[in-house]
Amino acid sequence: MAKQLSGAGLRGQVAGKTALSTVGVSGSGLTYRGYDVKDLAASCQFEEVAYLILKGKLPTQSELDEYKTLLRGRRGLPQALKDVLERIPKDAHPMDVLRTGCSMLGNLEMENDFSEQQQATDRMLACFPSIICYWYRFTHDGVRIDVESDDDSIGGHFLHMLHGEKPRELHEKVMHVSLILYAEHEFNASTFTARVCASTLSDMHSCVTGAIGSLRGPLHGGANEAAMEMIEGFTSADDAEEKMMAMLARKDKIMGFGHAIYSESDPRNEIIKGWSEKLAADVGDEVLYPVSVRCEEVMWREKKLFCNADFFHASAYNFMGIPTKLFTPIFVMSRLTGWAAHVMEQRADNRIIRPSAEYTGEDIRDVPPMSARS
Ligand SMILES: CC(C)(COP(=O)(O)OP(=O)(O)OC[C@H]1O[C@@H](n2cnc3c(N)ncnc32)[C@H](O)[C@@H]1OP(=O)(O)O)[C@@H](O)C(=O)NCCC(=O)NCCS
Repeated sequence: MAKQLSGAGLRGQVAGKTALSTVGVSGSGLTYRGYDVKDLAASCQFEEVAYLILKGKLPTQSELDEYKTLLRGRRGLPQALKDVLERIPKDAHPMDVLRTGCSMLGNLEMENDFSEQQQATDRMLACFPSIICYWYRFTHDGVRIDVESDDDSIGGHFLHMLHGEKPRELHEKVMHVSLILYAEHEFNASTFTARVCASTLSDMHSCVTGAIGSLRGPLHGGANEAAMEMIEGFTSADDAEEKMMAMLARKDKIMGFGHAIYSESDPRNEIIKGWSEKLAADVGDEVLYPVSVRCEEVMWREKKLFCNADFFHASAYNFMGIPTKLFTPIFVMSRLTGWAAHVMEQRADNRIIRPSAEYTGEDIRDVPPMSARS
């Protein structure tokens, strides 16, 4: 007989094994394959970390160069995919665009068998920025951009296509950090979605499409956009404090705060907060960053709730001129590495994921004839 539920949301229950990351385990905030994310964010490029997560080891210089060249060569989009993107309305949510783009790619470039899983993943890593920017620039600026840029990095490619000019070194560096911080996070909702899908022996594009749907919600990846919408409504730090106190009194949920696993802090926060501060100084901001810091102070003082990875990402992305509705798609461009690595791990030692439910419905009863129903 199945065990009773110990808590809502499967909190604290081990649902499988992974060698990819640890989250909040005994003092080590967040590790990818045994490396502290702080060290990775301080010294690595995103492509190095993607290689680590997907292939199990940090690349040598020549392996990294080769991997980046391979990814650069896969940025182009098939015409049939561009046709679909051009038909998606301007007011669609970019996460829905990516979900459709990923699914369409799966139709055009099917993963025929699991021996093609790395190839399918590399293709998505290379072309997800192209998908989102092609659609965005077509529907918002009326241009059909060339997505096959020679930019060195995935983050640089994204910024170049979005703004139509080569990104500054500072911005490309922040993109590396941001994509590293978002790359992997154990059995979070979207990754678990991908693993459940993988456990049926489904294809990589289906696993990633499902994961994108899970990431879209404001309780998960969508929190960075919701945080931005909140902080841009505050005119000063004092205004932020006053309005947040009112929100707390109403018991509103404040996006970008709290975490299902971490209990005292999110190790990714101090890193992206530091970069947000640098970007604020760079653009001469005197509102958004101080507002964000005050929000952090108020939440800790009033509720002992801390900023998660999403909160200071909001101001950092804003300072780089990234439209708010593209925040969560950037998360996808990064987390794709974690999702795909989990799919590969699930496939390597698979049993279909099929938990049981605690039944709370009616006792067994007879089906009444139609005439006896009210
Ligand atoms: C991340 C999140 C979904 C975790 O949910 P959870 O594990 O159910 O949260 P907890 O069990 O720690 O919540 C404990 C209490 O703090 C409250 N709380 C948690 N996060 C809160 C927030 N961001 N704002 C206000 N209150 C919050 C909960 O409502 C709960 O209060 P209650 O006991 O009176 O019901 C939750 O913190 C949240 O919704 N945060 C905002 C969305 C967000 O930033 N998501 C991105 C996560 S990386």
